[in-house]
Amino acid sequence: MASGSWEEFFAVHLPPTDFEDNRTLLKEFCERHDKYGNKIVLVTSGGTTVPLEHNTVRFVDNFSAGTRGSASAEYFLEHGYAVIFMHRQKSLEPFTRHFSGQKLLDMLEIQERGPNTTITVRPDSVDVLAPVLVRYKAALAAGAVLQVAFTSVSEYFWLLRAACECLARLGPRALLYLAAAVSDFYIPKDRVPTHKMQSESGAPVIQLQLVPKMLAPLVNLWVPAAYVVSFKLETDESLLIPKARAALEKYKHKMVVANMLQSRHHRVILVSPEASQEIVLTREDIHAGVDIESAIVSEIVRLHAEHLAGGGAGAALP
Ligand code: PMT
Repeated sequence: MASGSWEEFFAVHLPPTDFEDNRTLLKEFCERHDKYGNKIVLVTSGGTTVPLEHNTVRFVDNFSAGTRGSASAEYFLEHGYAVIFMHRQKSLEPFTRHFSGQKLLDMLEIQERGPNTTITVRPDSVDVLAPVLVRYKAALAAGAVLQVAFTSVSEYFWLLRAACECLARLGPRALLYLAAAVSDFYIPKDRVPTHKMQSESGAPVIQLQLVPKMLAPLVNLWVPAAYVVSFKLETDESLLIPKARAALEKYKHKMVVANMLQSRHHRVILVSPEASQEIVLTREDIHAGVDIESAIVSEIVRLHAEHLAGGGAGAALP
């Protein structure tokens, strides 16, 4: 087993405590939807942490709020996909994302008359709440969503591999949409102290190591027939497309959605081995609250359908 390899990562890092429960849920979900010939998308969402202590008080984190993933999950449901929503604990989730903070409470009214308390939705909020509630209840009734949560980068990888192993049975009907912001660096387990670091010991020197790229085994071994879409985030525009192309060249998957940190909510570039296509929201779109994920998902769904129609061979961007 090579040092720094993905195999070593799994050998050294133990599975999370709720791993077997989640694996059972993933297995049941994939078997049920496979039986009906449904398409399943695995949406990963939010950032991963790198714990600085085993009994974790402090950790290294990243910016991702799960906006991209939670919105995309809703659009995949609209396109008839069953959705595994694998997200960072406490990051945005489909449907509830519309009512974060105090928004939901502000939509409610309470009447207390003696022992009877009634809670109602304010009349001016019904038009906002009702469409989301209808879509949420429909997804629930159809058993179309499974949510599983991670916090640390190793929890993310354990869940990712388990989800892939369950999805493999679907062949090209499985779509992977890897929007989570995954840490590239971590502290090897044997260098992580058990207890909270003490300030009396002086300023700690923390050396991070490279996390093995899981796209390699994912594409080649875990889900070789699936339609895999990864994401590339950069802050230097000159690196964005070259790095997206390099990832396609290296991992041989279907698409990289390239985005810049600063403009990610209104501009992305879908990069495939054959072409690239920019999606940009207009000022009016942004003002009207249009989600860029609606257009991203529509295009990926179209390409995935072409891929399936072609018997699993490549499909080109226009
Ligand atoms: O959540 P939001 O605030 O809406 O932001 C959305 C987003 C910017 C996080 C999202 O659009 C995005 O770009 N996600 C990918 C960020 C990222 O991890 O980029 P990267 O260049 O570090 O990694 C590229 C790809 O390699 C990713 O698909 C990742 O799943 C994969 N990877 C990363 C690290 C690793 N060790 N193994 C991997 O396979």
